[in-house]
Amino acid sequence: MRISILTLFPEMFDGFINTSIIARAIKQEKVTIECINIRDFTLDKHNHVDDTPFGGGRGMVMMCQPVLDALQSVRTSDSKVYLLAAAGETFNQKKARSFVNVKHLILICGHYEGLDARIYDEVDGLISIGDYILTGGELASMIIADAVIRLLEGVIVEESHLDESFENGLLEYPHYTKPVEYNGKKVPDVLLSGHHENIRKYRLKESLRNTYINRPDLLSNREYTKEEYKLLDEIKDEIKSKGE
Ligand SMILES: C[S@@+](CC[C@H](N)C(=O)[O-])C[C@H]1O[C@@H](n2cnc3c(N)ncnc32)[C@H](O)[C@@H]1O
Repeated sequence: MRISILTLFPEMFDGFINTSIIARAIKQEKVTIECINIRDFTLDKHNHVDDTPFGGGRGMVMMCQPVLDALQSVRTSDSKVYLLAAAGETFNQKKARSFVNVKHLILICGHYEGLDARIYDEVDGLISIGDYILTGGELASMIIADAVIRLLEGVIVEESHLDESFENGLLEYPHYTKPVEYNGKKVPDVLLSGHHENIRKYRLKESLRNTYINRPDLLSNREYTKEEYKLLDEIKDEIKSKGE
């Protein structure tokens, strides 16, 4: 996969590109990431990329010409182009999966008050990472690139995805590592038992519990298995008996 990020602040991506799993994925040629500096495409001698909004008001608006010329410089018939915008479709794991087979993903980062609205007509979609306002699209594009890259084949062990939050419609179960006891708190016995079936069942139940307590909305359209139904009933009884 090739990811092109159009930004006014390419230096923000240095840490992202050079660290951990993303750096390894680049080294293993699973992905290439390039940052295109929109400012390199200005035609004006002062390198302006933004101007005041028509109709008045505060803030500056990024102009069509540098953004669209920057886009033109990298866009091919394989490209899917998304603009980071608070008004866009909210990004989630399903959307991340839908990008996995895209050959060339182009992410355009807005800044200041945002982009001239005419740029919207030139892209495949708008993506938001949540209901809050960021200073610019750079962090949002890193989040999207990160979520997609770790799903590319061979970037992390395939099995690791199976139980991850949102992959099967549930939040993940809790993890523990050494020592067995820390500050009087013990790792659940079942995890030390070596009994694979009991561990599987425990993890499924804790996944359900986590989701039921923290994100019940995820369960609203779930088609439960018989086992899940039974475990969820147990969870509800446990919660009731604790008086929570
Ligand atoms: C300060 S924001 C502009 C906010 C805009 N005036 C509004 O009210 O929606 C500058 C840029 O940050 C990015 N941005 C801000 N919030 C975002 C979000 N929740 N998701 C994705 N990108 C966001 C967008 O690229 C946006 O153009």
